[in-house]
Amino acid sequence: MRATDAFGIGLAMVGATALGSACVDYSNMEPSFATLRQAAQAQGKLIGTAVDGALLSTDSEYARLLAEEFSAVTPENATKWGPLEPQDDTYDFSDADSIVATALDHDQSLKGHVFTWHQQLPSWVESISDPDELRLALREHMETTMARYRGQIKVWDVVNEAVDDNAPAGYRENIFYELLGPDYIEEAFLMAHEADPDALLYYNDYAIERMGHKADFTYQMLRDLVARDIPIHGIGMQSHLSVHRYPAADDLRDNIRRFADLGLRVEISELDGRTSGLTGTLDQQYEAQRIAFQETVASCVLEPGCAGVTLWGFLDEYSWLDDEGTEEHGLLFDDNYEKKPSYWGVMDGLRGKWAKRGPTLVKNGDFEDELDHWVGVDSTLSLESFEDQAHPVACARGRSSSESGLSQVDLLDAFASGGSFTFRAEVRQEGTAPAGINVALIVEQSGQDPSTLSLGYLYLEEGVWRTMRGSFALAWEAPPTSVRLSFSGPDPGVDLCITQVALNQLHPAPG
Ligand code: XIL
Repeated sequence: MRATDAFGIGLAMVGATALGSACVDYSNMEPSFATLRQAAQAQGKLIGTAVDGALLSTDSEYARLLAEEFSAVTPENATKWGPLEPQDDTYDFSDADSIVATALDHDQSLKGHVFTWHQQLPSWVESISDPDELRLALREHMETTMARYRGQIKVWDVVNEAVDDNAPAGYRENIFYELLGPDYIEEAFLMAHEADPDALLYYNDYAIERMGHKADFTYQMLRDLVARDIPIHGIGMQSHLSVHRYPAADDLRDNIRRFADLGLRVEISELDGRTSGLTGTLDQQYEAQRIAFQETVASCVLEPGCAGVTLWGFLDEYSWLDDEGTEEHGLLFDDNYEKKPSYWGVMDGLRGKWAKRGPTLVKNGDFEDELDHWVGVDSTLSLESFEDQAHPVACARGRSSSESGLSQVDLLDAFASGGSFTFRAEVRQEGTAPAGINVALIVEQSGQDPSTLSLGYLYLEEGVWRTMRGSFALAWEAPPTSVRLSFSGPDPGVDLCITQVALNQLHPAPG
């Protein structure tokens, strides 16, 4: 198998459409859709957006686009505990009511968001110190809210962002965890189910889209809930992407599939794409964002277990991404309400089209030409073979620092013009180290210190092969003088082995 075939994506896509083989020009044959909503409906998927209650009445263009383009809505803030019940037993349903009424008028489905979260809680809840008092407050809050919208809001995010990669036990230390321990998660699902037995109940979190430590922890947590018949029906992967580095489509698809295999509905629940991490012109940033959105949306469309995609808003102007002062251009419409390239990325993704993959840019990535093109950095490279690998393997042994490892130095030509790319490698370490493996492009520009663009970071178990994958975009202000690919990371003394390294350019979907 050539390394590029390992993606399997371009091939899978052709097989999955009824539009003909890759040789046929099907640009005129494809159905075209006037709105995202129509495109999603044709695939049997939902296309949603977060909605701001106040804008519905103050911005008629916002209301028009919302009704035309989307088939599902999630209140961006209006159904959070703080805005909804600012004082104990004193509710303000005004924004939520208008969002619900408008959605029903336009035949849009609704997801409520959210019951337990560490943010936007009312201060009276934050100051509770008795576990039973907190349980009662949560139960009453759910009962009142779910009763009001019963039969209208049919899906609820019950628990949001409960996993913390950096916390010792893996759980985020919010008031629920502090007073009730990790069992608050199942208690919340059980209470929500009692409050509305017909509602679909979701877990929602960020940075669980790519395979890795946080997604693995979340997977085990939900598998355990499902195994014990706790009423949980779905998982939302927020997908607040950075367009300079985001989960690779095949990685996202594998992850969606394993959650779906638990019997859960999977959704991309809060998609947006920061651009501030990418240099270059606004046009280059928009193009990178278009591809990031297309790959993410197509991943959902092509996975039967994925129910749909919700964007976290649609007008750049109102995006929460800009709340901290940067201008992220994170959504689908610019400040003049014009469609951006990202809109067409979502549209192409909804039509099940992938970005086109170029050939791999890495030389001898499968080590069939022994160690040609590879160097050991403060380590000794050896060519080896492993029973569970079809290709030869390169190992860096005798590493003297965490910077030591394997490198390919002459990649300037491949990356000189920038663009969007996707990366994969099989990796393994021998020896234990608290740190994981780091894959990066080291870029030198004349007169400047080298900069490091991290393509991926993964914790490895000793002696176990893992697949590392990621997508990224590059745009240069001044062309670089050298680009090198580097595998490094674990403590000195730990050996690092790699094979099947591939790096392919992603081009906009044809047609
Ligand atoms: C954000 C809203 O968009 C902002 O308006 C608000 O100030 C903070 O919350 N994860 C979530 C969402 O689950 O509820 C967050 O929404 C974004 C991150």
